[in-house]
Amino acid sequence: MKVAILSGSVYGAAEEVAHGAAQLLESAGFEAWHKAGASLEEVLAFEPQAVLAITSTTGMGELPGNLQDLYYQLRDRFPAWSGLPSAVIALGDSSYDTFCGGGELMHELFAELGMREALPMLRLDASESVTPEDDAQPWLAELITALRG
Ligand SMILES: Cc1cc2nc3c(=O)[nH]c(=O)nc-3n(C[C@H](O)[C@H](O)[C@H](O)COP(=O)(O)O)c2cc1C
Repeated sequence: MKVAILSGSVYGAAEEVAHGAAQLLESAGFEAWHKAGASLEEVLAFEPQAVLAITSTTGMGELPGNLQDLYYQLRDRFPAWSGLPSAVIALGDSSYDTFCGGGELMHELFAELGMREALPMLRLDASESVTPEDDAQPWLAELITALRG
C-alpha cells in the first residue's frame, strides 16, 4: 500500500516525526512517500492509497507555512480521495488554548474529502515530552495494524 505523509513543521520536530514514520512504514512493507513542502501535484503523482498528516501548530492554532499551500490546494482541488484511509499526528503545546489546532485543520479537511479515519488523531504535547518521535512509535504500530486491515 502506498502511504503519502504530508508534513508541516516550523522548528523541525514534526519533520523528524514524519521521517521516523516513513522509516517505520517502509520497514513494515508499505511504500511511504514524504517530502517537506510538497505540492499537490507531487502528492497526486505518487497516487497515494492512504494519507498520513503530521503537523505542528503555530501562531494561534495555525498550520505551519510549509503545509499551508498544500492545505489550500487540497481544499480547492478536492482530489478523489473519498474512502481512502487517513490519519493525523498533531504536535502542539497544551499551554495554548488552540492546542493542536493545525492537526485539527487537517483532520477536518480529511473528513470533508470523505476519507476514512484509520485511527483517532494522536496529539503530542511539547509541554509534557521532548521526544515526539519516540512517543509516536506505539501509535504508528497501531496505524500499521489498522492499514493492514
Ligand atoms: C510561535 C509559536 C506558536 C505556537 N502556537 C501553538 C498553538 O497555537 N497551539 C499549539 O498546540 N501549539 C503551539 N505551538 C507549539 C508547537 O506546535 C510545538 O512546540 C511543536 O512541537 C513544534 O513543532 P515543530 O518543531 O515541528 O514546529 C506554538 C509554538 C510557537 C513557537
